[in-house]
Amino acid sequence: MATHKAKANPTKAFFVRMLTRDISLDDCILDLVDNSIDAAWKLSGARPTALQSDSSLKDYKIDITISEDTFSVSDNCGGISFDDAAKYAFTFGRRDEQARGDYSVGVYGIGMKRAVFKLGRQIRISSTYRVDNYLQGFFVPIDVKRWLEAGDEAWDFEIEDVLPEDEPGVSILVTDLLDEVKEKFSDPTYERRLRRMLARDYMIPLMRGLQINVNSEPVSGWKLELRQNENFAPMRTKYEDERVNVEIVAGMGSPPPDDREPDEEKGLDISGWYVLCNGRIVLAADTTALTGWGASLPRWHKQYSGFVGVVFFSSENPELLPMTTTKRSVDVSSRVYQRALARMHEPARAWINYTNARKQNIETVKELEKQVVTKEVSEVIPRAELKVPEVARPATRERMANVNYSVPLNRMKALAAGFGNSRMSYREVGLESFDYAYQELADEDS
Ligand SMILES: Nc1ncnc2c1ncn2[C@@H]1O[C@H](COP(=O)(O)OP(=O)(O)O)[C@@H](O)[C@H]1O
Ligand SMILES: [Mg+2]
Repeated sequence: MATHKAKANPTKAFFVRMLTRDISLDDCILDLVDNSIDAAWKLSGARPTALQSDSSLKDYKIDITISEDTFSVSDNCGGISFDDAAKYAFTFGRRDEQARGDYSVGVYGIGMKRAVFKLGRQIRISSTYRVDNYLQGFFVPIDVKRWLEAGDEAWDFEIEDVLPEDEPGVSILVTDLLDEVKEKFSDPTYERRLRRMLARDYMIPLMRGLQINVNSEPVSGWKLELRQNENFAPMRTKYEDERVNVEIVAGMGSPPPDDREPDEEKGLDISGWYVLCNGRIVLAADTTALTGWGASLPRWHKQYSGFVGVVFFSSENPELLPMTTTKRSVDVSSRVYQRALARMHEPARAWINYTNARKQNIETVKELEKQVVTKEVSEVIPRAELKVPEVARPATRERMANVNYSVPLNRMKALAAGFGNSRMSYREVGLESFDYAYQELADEDS
């Protein structure tokens, strides 16, 4: 029987369109930074396995420049070797034989290609890498238009030799930017936004000494701090689950609000959960059902503000981590994540209960919340549970009645004299006469 074949090879144009469709420009830029950071961890020998602060990445640097017509990112994190470039790095999708692991965040082997296609049409990826004791260099030029026009049979990119730079590292230059990219980069507020995103999403590597510059200005990492005193102490716990290390820290980031200002007036609220995978933030200040609020916990509202929690997942094999392909959210279907969620609920519940009780006795709790010291999350001491004070409900006060009446002045004076003190205040005369009548007519004990 004659067999025929239906042509099923993808077209390049399809690839470029599909790859870049559902990911934002920002996430593409972060993908490039992720690659540099993956390389930095690898070269330094340090691992993003715990929330800690040290200087193990202090020799590594990532420089990002953006302007109306150029984007570039370059690092000194070791570079791509010629062999890796020829075999894997430029392949769309990870090859099965490519080594995995090393606590990276790269999983699918697509980030770099997707990012450069999202940015522009003239691309130059250069690498300087070490071979034994000397440095070598190559670059891969990609002229997207020509590559597309070359037809769907020829997918490969050329690798060209070039003199090495002073240090091993990768440098990516994109010009002929796409119109939407140009537009974004020429917005005067974009640089600030990018900087803020980098400061937050890479607070772990920054905490460990990595340097990131945007247009030559260093980015300083976010600090997540928790407050403690004799009444409050954050929880911190660590366990392993299906070859994933999980560390949870949660506590009071700031005191809960007590005024009645409307929600819109609060500034940037850092409250909520931070989920990290191999040191990369995938969810920040989350107060949605992804972290249980409005699902197994009550819906988040302003009363809970001040709660800060961090969940840190790390694994040698990034495929095991509960993150989505864009690294922009958690994979809630992950069992590792579901089990972590159950543990995350414990401090969240303690906080919910505390803020409920707090409302009843606001003056007392404000005292209890004073004299706190702040500790960076990495410095929090292990503790099984979040410690919050037991807030007693205020003693229920008797309901009172107010009396207010008028009598002729001379009769008031006569009654005061009758009580033995003609200069008694009217109020005292009133109280005395009430007690007098009460004893006579109402008090059962007498
Ligand atoms: N800045 C870099 N430094 C060192 N190696 C890099 C760098 N960028 C990319 N690579 C190499 O290129 C490969 C492909 O990158 P990418 O397309 O982002 O996929 P992934 O990160 O999922 O592997 C990486 O696995 C890595 O080996
Ligand atoms: Mg990558």
